[in-house]
Amino acid sequence: MQPREIFQLVKDELRQVEGEFARQRHSSVGTIEEIGKYLQEGGGKRIRPSLLLLCTKLCGQVNHSAIKLAAVVEFIHTATLVHDDIIDGARIRRGRSSANHKWGNQVTVLVGDWLYMQSFYVALQERNFRILDILIDLTQRMVEGELIQLSLDGSPKVSEQQVLDIARRKTAHLFSGCARIGGLLGRVSDEQERALGDYGLSLGLVFQVTDDILDLSSSQRVLGKPVGSDLKEGKMTLPLVYALQTCDRDESRKIETVLQEKAFRSVSKEEILAIVTRYRVLQKARKRAEEFAARAEAAMECFPPSPYRQALQAIPRMILDRDR
Ligand code: IPE
Ligand code: IPE
Ligand code: MG
Ligand code: MG
Repeated sequence: MQPREIFQLVKDELRQVEGEFARQRHSSVGTIEEIGKYLQEGGGKRIRPSLLLLCTKLCGQVNHSAIKLAAVVEFIHTATLVHDDIIDGARIRRGRSSANHKWGNQVTVLVGDWLYMQSFYVALQERNFRILDILIDLTQRMVEGELIQLSLDGSPKVSEQQVLDIARRKTAHLFSGCARIGGLLGRVSDEQERALGDYGLSLGLVFQVTDDILDLSSSQRVLGKPVGSDLKEGKMTLPLVYALQTCDRDESRKIETVLQEKAFRSVSKEEILAIVTRYRVLQKARKRAEEFAARAEAAMECFPPSPYRQALQAIPRMILDRDR
């Protein structure tokens, strides 16, 4: 199944989600209204609401609750990006000025808070404690992921396990929550709900590892955010962990220098990319992501065949091959 065919399955619903997102972001406070509009218009791939909707259709039918909750998960994702860009000092997001760069940290941190609270306010209207439980849990995991990452800031002594633990918390639990909520809006057995959770978790890891790879292989023009920025943010990623496992003393010193200086100053980006190429670490990270993709695909086997199952099983590969 091609990406176009996958999105076609939820195209109409995604349009409704945009309407719902626009309604939810309204506020009588001008700053919130202005920044909310700016954030929505920035676009984004809408992968999380798509995932939630496909899982709803796999297990039942999309009603207004599903549309609202699909908007809620995109809202939570948006709030996370707003705060993340402040933390990372990012100036560009989705190919244009990040909110913090445009409005400053003071205003933007509060808009992020408002977006989080609005997400929970809308979710609460569903009066579904299992769904609230999932949303609160995944939001806490994300914050924990960001905090653990910060605690390792600038340090090269990071293991594969630590990098994956961070990725699981800051990215994969949201994917997992989207899949489970989708299932809960239809009819699922306990076993199927667990399978959806596992599917989302593995898919989220594919997504984050691919993001790590793209940071070293893509361009700002395609990605909509600066490349080579992970090291400059003092952040170790999977390909760089693999590089440090095999490169020589001189090369590891280069990686450590960028991590500490938080800039390509004494060491150039080209020198780092040469190490990355020499030890084929992007290929190695891709192999690891492929293992998670296979796990995600396998998790869906407990559902009867349908176009939705087919789409969900095609998504891991689509994410592996994404260029943005
Ligand atoms: C970016 O997520 C944050 C990560 C988890 C790496 P997306 O790549 O889904 O961002 P948008 O919504 O498409 O901009
Ligand atoms: C994005 O994280 C936010 C979360 C996944 C919580 P990153 O800092 O790793 O991603 P980008 O590069 O800013 O999108
Ligand atoms: Mg960031
Ligand atoms: Mg970050």
